[in-house]
Amino acid sequence: MDQIAITGGAHLVGDIPISGAKNSAIKLMTASLLTDEPLRLTNMPRLADTRFLGKLLRRLGAEVTESEGPDGPQTVLHTPEIVSAFAPYDLVRQMRASFNVLGPLLARTGHAKVSLPGGCAIGARPVDLHLKALEALGAHIDLNEGYVYAQAPRGLKGATIEFPFSSVGATEHAMLAAVLARGETVLIGAAREPEIVDLADCLNAMGAKVEGAGGSTLRIVGVARLTGATHAVAPDRIETGTYALAAAMAGGEVRLTNTRADLIESLLVKMEEAGVDVERRNDGLIIRRNGARLNAVTIETDPYPGFATDLQAQFMALMTVADGESVVRETIFENRFMHVPELSRLGADIVVSGGEARVRGVDCLQGAPVMATDLRASVSLVIAALAAKGETVVNRVYHLDRGFERLEEKLSACGAQVRRVKGAAEPEG
Ligand code: UD1
Repeated sequence: MDQIAITGGAHLVGDIPISGAKNSAIKLMTASLLTDEPLRLTNMPRLADTRFLGKLLRRLGAEVTESEGPDGPQTVLHTPEIVSAFAPYDLVRQMRASFNVLGPLLARTGHAKVSLPGGCAIGARPVDLHLKALEALGAHIDLNEGYVYAQAPRGLKGATIEFPFSSVGATEHAMLAAVLARGETVLIGAAREPEIVDLADCLNAMGAKVEGAGGSTLRIVGVARLTGATHAVAPDRIETGTYALAAAMAGGEVRLTNTRADLIESLLVKMEEAGVDVERRNDGLIIRRNGARLNAVTIETDPYPGFATDLQAQFMALMTVADGESVVRETIFENRFMHVPELSRLGADIVVSGGEARVRGVDCLQGAPVMATDLRASVSLVIAALAAKGETVVNRVYHLDRGFERLEEKLSACGAQVRRVKGAAEPEG
């Protein structure tokens, strides 16, 4: 299994181009199942997760063609016919978002059998809201032996669906099913994340009628069929925030291009509070930090536009060397502090109690072998390692490969000492 070895201490200076958003791209890919015409997605990230979903979509009848288009990496997805409405456990368990093929399959064919998902080990992560939304749209749902059997032989029917709390995946799932339902659907208490706006824009380009994305009420008027379209995947806000934090941790000056500062405003405000210099520009942003120790800052994760849970681990890494005590509260997922024992191996002083971590800043971290446990946790170890004395070796980097495109290349281009060790043996235990 590959490892990533990082020698800390180098300042980062240069440009980092941000890729298309993983969490958008995978939902947009599933949207391609809604039409028999080709959907061309540009600004596509090339990640283990997108490759993986491509494999599942091919099983269902899609032709998936990746190429270098005139506007960079693109993927064309074309499903003239759904050849199978069955998504097996093997393919769904490895990536939770594959579960979102259920809605489009049901909308297009009137039936589907999809395994219940696996995904990151960050708490229970049920799909009850997804299933309730599909039931409200008229689907008959049975759960049996780990599979969801869904049927709507006479098609789905618009409905008013009220979500008890914000769920990105359930909102997207309801949208993907409602666009082909008869009549109007109203989603109340919908998630407001930029990925919802991106999905709505893509669906509308395909001929759907979705209004209100980015707000908490969405109105969707069902149409009889959708067409092909071309859509550019929005910039990855989590990748943007991660490199902003990496630059702050290492010090130096880094320009993040092909992205938007407004996508991570709640993070930038906290970084400024900590003493990092942030310049918001039309074509991205510049992060500068020269020498001075950072202030300890308290954060609490929240649905968008609040502080993203997917940036919590990375922010905590920055706080391990800040001056004073910061409190990091996680309100979205239980069990999302798996990076804490690993950061502690690097010398961080962190005490967890329930959904709260108290981080007492230390003068300096020390390199050590560490283990990646999930996607965002693993990149927090890379950030910590950038400022640690000596070498840190991150094991199980397949977690990183799921969500960060060419990470070591992007960081090395700015002067970081990062290298991938191919196929190294796993430490025992
Ligand atoms: C998505 C993102 C993930 C991010 C999360 C929150 C993708 C592929 N993943 O995950 O990176 O961390 O949004 O911003 O886009 N819940 C239920 N029942 C449900 C659905 C969710 O109880 O049916 C709970 C979850 O356990 C969690 C909360 O709702 O506590 C929010 O989860 P949700 O917004 O649905 O996250 P995902 O869509 O899974």
